[in-house]
Amino acid sequence: MRKKVSIVGSGNVGATAAHWIASKELADVVLIDIIEGVPQGKGLDLLEAMPIEKRDSFVMGTNDYKDTANSDIVVVTAGIPRKPGMSRDDLLNTNYNIMKAVVGEVVKYSPNCILIIVSNPLDAMAQTAYKLSGFPRERVIGMAGVLDSARFRTFIADELKVSVENVTAFVLGGHGDTMVPLARYSTVAGIPITELIAPERLAQLVQRTRDGGAEIVKYLKTGSAYYAPSAATTEMVEAILKDKKKILPCTVYLQGEYGVNGLFIGVPVKLGAKGIEQIIQIKLTAEEQAAVNKSAAAVKELVGVIGV
Ligand code: LAC
Repeated sequence: MRKKVSIVGSGNVGATAAHWIASKELADVVLIDIIEGVPQGKGLDLLEAMPIEKRDSFVMGTNDYKDTANSDIVVVTAGIPRKPGMSRDDLLNTNYNIMKAVVGEVVKYSPNCILIIVSNPLDAMAQTAYKLSGFPRERVIGMAGVLDSARFRTFIADELKVSVENVTAFVLGGHGDTMVPLARYSTVAGIPITELIAPERLAQLVQRTRDGGAEIVKYLKTGSAYYAPSAATTEMVEAILKDKKKILPCTVYLQGEYGVNGLFIGVPVKLGAKGIEQIIQIKLTAEEQAAVNKSAAAVKELVGVIGV
């Protein structure tokens, strides 16, 4: 039987995720939005591209959650995006209310789905979805680390003029200014980048990674990044639907791992058919642990404001 992925929010991130997922023939895709016409129009437009792409993915848009019934995965992108000068945290209250409305409907029609949360502020929205859905933690996953790592990988590959395929990178912590790009565990063809890039230069690449989202917002002015965020989401969707057991940095509900309890934070996990199949614990230096703690404190403050 075909897999089914529903995407809540037919804006740039949602529609572009639908594009990647359909063009890789990973699943049939339902785009849903409260705005009338936009999901239907984008869905039909994508469907009509499938003969050219030689893909049999079915794509549709709707305003009715009934059409999302029995999805294997529901990706939530709904919410307002950032404008220049805004931090992800400025979106908190508005996107919390949107998330509340969305999660109730999603759970009603797809009680067994895996939720991938993309809306910002990411960690707090993932925590909201987890608490309101009542799902086990294995089935509520935030998308941040794959995106942040992809940005870090881009900058490392460009710096060393090597293939992006040679570069692996890890970014831990919250999806915000306190994110923790881990240079020690980032490699080029297996060689730690700390052997290849001088510390001062590496610090600049780390900072550019932290500011990666804001750099795009500054250019676009009317919204935030969507190609890389939706590609990152698609990598997670693929790992789950194909049961790849792929290790990716994802935002998950920690219960003591990394010294964090009762909060969503980005850590390496194994993604497969059951969602999060393992949280990979790696040894951190005192400095790295302090950075994770700082990131956790920032997430805690946010979830405190909305009480989830
Ligand atoms: C970014 C936004 C989407 O990092 O959080 O681009």
